[in-house]
Amino acid sequence: MSLISVESVSFGYGRSQSVLHEASFKLRAGVNVGLVGESGSGKSTMLRLLLGLARPESGVIRYGEDVLDPRDRGFMRRYRRAVQAVFQDPYSSLDPRQKVEDIVAEPLRALRIPGPHRPVIEAALADVGLPADAISRYPHEFSGGQRQRIAIARAIVARPQFILADEAVSALDLSTRIRIVDLLKDLSKTMTILLVSHDLAVVAALCEEIIVLEKGRIVESGRTADILKQPQHPYTRKLLASVPRMPA
Ligand SMILES: Nc1ncnc2c1ncn2[C@@H]1O[C@H](COP(=O)(O)OP(=O)(O)O)[C@@H](O)[C@H]1O
Ligand SMILES: [Mg+2]
Repeated sequence: MSLISVESVSFGYGRSQSVLHEASFKLRAGVNVGLVGESGSGKSTMLRLLLGLARPESGVIRYGEDVLDPRDRGFMRRYRRAVQAVFQDPYSSLDPRQKVEDIVAEPLRALRIPGPHRPVIEAALADVGLPADAISRYPHEFSGGQRQRIAIARAIVARPQFILADEAVSALDLSTRIRIVDLLKDLSKTMTILLVSHDLAVVAALCEEIIVLEKGRIVESGRTADILKQPQHPYTRKLLASVPRMPA
């Protein structure tokens, strides 16, 4: 079941123009993929569909053999066990009234994973490089980078196969961004990451494959090294030209 396939997916918000046009790609366990494109190209919308937060207008998304159907509770429980998300803003994505312990425990509760949860939470916090005493503190006591580590701990606590990350490092300053990318790289030894980003440099540092989205259409996809060396589509070349290289 370690395969998610997006098959000719189209989507639009209400009656407005369609936002995704017949998009197709696969996510295989063990291959990190970067979904890149300018702001408004449909990256977050794609992620919403992949998370079951919205349904394709046409086309399907499969997890293994099964069609992703947000109304199928049995499927969604299996799917959420395998697929977790990290969002862009580490301020709004963490409930300020909850202790880190309760924030990180959310998937364990939602998936009804039997306890005790505390050692599992401690392990997740250690994996993202937070001190042990973080567990009993509140989000406001942490910096932006540390908050993103909390969000990542929540995403990995149930040991999913896939992490879908929407601009997960975009809001961070450069040095923090590099450290979080390193953390994601480390985690991707055991989990596969789909990283949505407008920043090709971040994607290049983490992902073996790249998918380029222009106005809701996939215009190019392939191995990162190939695309960086020989971008085929003018839009990809434009993206490459506009992004400064991330220092190694
Ligand atoms: N909730 C929404 N309602 C209507 N239009 C939306 C909504 N969310 C996004 N859009 C539109 O869909 C397009 C793609 O947006 P989005 O998926 O957020 O792109 P990206 O993440 O690449 O910046 C944009 O034109 C955006 O204005
Ligand atoms: Mg977005």
